[in-house]
Amino acid sequence: MTSGKISKIKERFLKEVEEEKDAGKKRKICKKYIEEDLASVFSLVKNLSGEKRGEVGRAANELREFITKKMEGEKREEVAEKARIDVTFPGTEPDLGSLHPLTVLQKRCEEIFQKMGFVVAGGPELENEWYNFDALNFKKDHPVREMQDTLFAKQKDRGSLSEKEKLLMRTHTSPVQVRYMENRKPPFRIIVPGRVFRNETTDNSHEINFYQLEGLMVGEDVSIANFRAVIGYFLQQLFRAKVKLRLRPSFFPFTEPSFEVDVSCSICDQKGCSVCKQTGWIEIMGAGMVHPNVLRSAKVDPDKFTGFAFGCGLDRIAMIEHKIENVRLFYSGDLRFLKQF
Ligand code: PHE
Repeated sequence: MTSGKISKIKERFLKEVEEEKDAGKKRKICKKYIEEDLASVFSLVKNLSGEKRGEVGRAANELREFITKKMEGEKREEVAEKARIDVTFPGTEPDLGSLHPLTVLQKRCEEIFQKMGFVVAGGPELENEWYNFDALNFKKDHPVREMQDTLFAKQKDRGSLSEKEKLLMRTHTSPVQVRYMENRKPPFRIIVPGRVFRNETTDNSHEINFYQLEGLMVGEDVSIANFRAVIGYFLQQLFRAKVKLRLRPSFFPFTEPSFEVDVSCSICDQKGCSVCKQTGWIEIMGAGMVHPNVLRSAKVDPDKFTGFAFGCGLDRIAMIEHKIENVRLFYSGDLRFLKQF
């Protein structure tokens, strides 16, 4: 073994690494030279005598250091190669979402009412029987309290709970009328957009949940004339057309008198079309003058204050607006449907 032989190993090593392009493979070559070629040199150095041993040992040590440095350099290179980002490469375009058609409609309604000084209020979707029924003057045997109509929460010993403890998914946004009024002093002007729940068999016009827009205006001398003015302006803005109103007598436990509100069909100008089912009128909301018992539930004096309330289905309005025939599409999450808005 001579230092000349070590120079030969170095030459061979350099040639071999140079020919290799890949940093990982270059590193493997370095490893091989340290663990095999140099290891056998060192085992021979041990048997050399005096001066020669010093000279060859030094040369072998130098070569080991040289290869080790090279190996570390290749390691850094390898890491850098993996982390390298080509900034000129075209990126992946993010998929842009859009607002749901019901959200768009809700926002439009809110803007129209806010112009008339109405405040947007809210309440819980998991409601209790007192706010959903009792406070709104529903009698104990009203059919909506049946299991088939309403989604009640399963609760242990439900029979022994008070009305305020018995939970259900709210069937309408009207409970928010009482929730809002009971902690405040009149006058009130609010709208309540929100999700409501019914125990339905679904079809094209029925869903187990849908969206309502509730309205409430209470003050001294608030009358049906005020209701007509407010609702007339709202519907005119909503349908972007001059519309006529028609009030038909109806019944709700929480309003007296109660009525259904029809709006003239602006799609066919009352000539008759599929949306208005050839009648020229579209049934748009339930409404009425707030029942004195509801005001009492909310600790508002019915001898001093009066008001009107209304509730309409946002899904139905969106269906009319976009000529959608199946309400279930709103809740399907189907992008082919949603991307059209
Ligand atoms: N809460 C009623 C419903 O869900 C609608 C309504 C609201 C009627 C306010 C009158 C007054 O059908």
